[in-house]
Amino acid sequence: MFPCDFLCNDRAKVKIRTLEWIDDIDGFLRLIDQRVLPQVLPRRLVYLDCHDVPTLAEAIRKLAVRGAPAIGIAAGYGMCLAAQKIDKQANLSDALQILRKQADILASSRPTAVNLFWALDRMMTCASRFLADNPGACLVDVQKGLLSQARSIHIEDQEMCRSIGEHGRRLIPEGGSVLTHCNAGALATGGIGTALAPMYVAHEQGKRFHVYVDETRPLLQGARLTAWELLQAGIDVTLICDNMAGMLMKQRKIDAVITGADRIAANGDTANKIGTYSLSILAAAHNVPFYIAAPSSTFDLKLAGGEKIPIEQRSPQEITSFGDRLTAPEDIKVYNPAFDVVDASKITAIITEKGIIEYPDTDKIAAHLGHKGQ
Ligand code: MRU
Repeated sequence: MFPCDFLCNDRAKVKIRTLEWIDDIDGFLRLIDQRVLPQVLPRRLVYLDCHDVPTLAEAIRKLAVRGAPAIGIAAGYGMCLAAQKIDKQANLSDALQILRKQADILASSRPTAVNLFWALDRMMTCASRFLADNPGACLVDVQKGLLSQARSIHIEDQEMCRSIGEHGRRLIPEGGSVLTHCNAGALATGGIGTALAPMYVAHEQGKRFHVYVDETRPLLQGARLTAWELLQAGIDVTLICDNMAGMLMKQRKIDAVITGADRIAANGDTANKIGTYSLSILAAAHNVPFYIAAPSSTFDLKLAGGEKIPIEQRSPQEITSFGDRLTAPEDIKVYNPAFDVVDASKITAIITEKGIIEYPDTDKIAAHLGHKGQ
């Protein structure tokens, strides 16, 4: 246990160090262990220190660190841990092979959030370019290059979160209520979050609004993480069960839905935490705007539509038990997909660090991201 890192920064009044690289090239990755949040002791957080790739891969698999951008940043630093394992005598092509093997271990941790694969590709490209451009480079040079690249991924994510907040704040209705699902806040990113960023920025600018948070079965990221984060920031927040959103919309208590994303296909179809699809249908049925907030690293333009997005299946125990207590017959059949896919047609707008894509489609997304096509 370490003292709480909940520092109030000068603007958003929220700063959670979800991940932090400690020391230089011989250092390690320190994560807030999100499995134990919300922590019971006030002003204390539990940290998990990862000194090697298998420990980090397990931390991602078990959701000690989670949320698409945070997983990507963790993977970037993971490649710095991988580089520490290269023998100083190894030739540079052996070094690349070792890095590739370690990248594969990280890539096998969770399948849906594209940020993981995006960050691993970026780190491997960095290593191979560096080695091609500097044939005489020693291992320490490669390690320095990788650490600097991982730090860039982290800093860029912080900046993207802030920009998403600046672009999205006008979508938060003065005096109104927004609903969010899962956790797409500071705990899911290197900065102030994606879906929560517009809320943090609106709040720091004095806007009055209210947030409903779905508890987000089965792992309660909404109840454990989002409710906790928003409370710490002094935002007016009410927790609801996932199955209450429809009734609240019928009662006109929700003016907008904002969620994050784990992967967005070229046409705007969006994978996010299981339950997001149902919310999109409810929102359309009640004429409530439905927004997705995500950085450009969450787009997967190789996939034309959402049907090819790989959906993670998780353990039945997440549904049949609560802590140590069994809450369903032990041998019941269970289906436990961790994500679902919202059709682009149900999305009012996607908020990125570059601006807002209204009624997203393939052309608008390509133009927004400056993508020239195949
Ligand atoms: O299983 P999780 O907790 O990693 O799922 C996270 C989500 O679904 C988030 O909404 C998404 O990753 C966006 S995080 C900015």
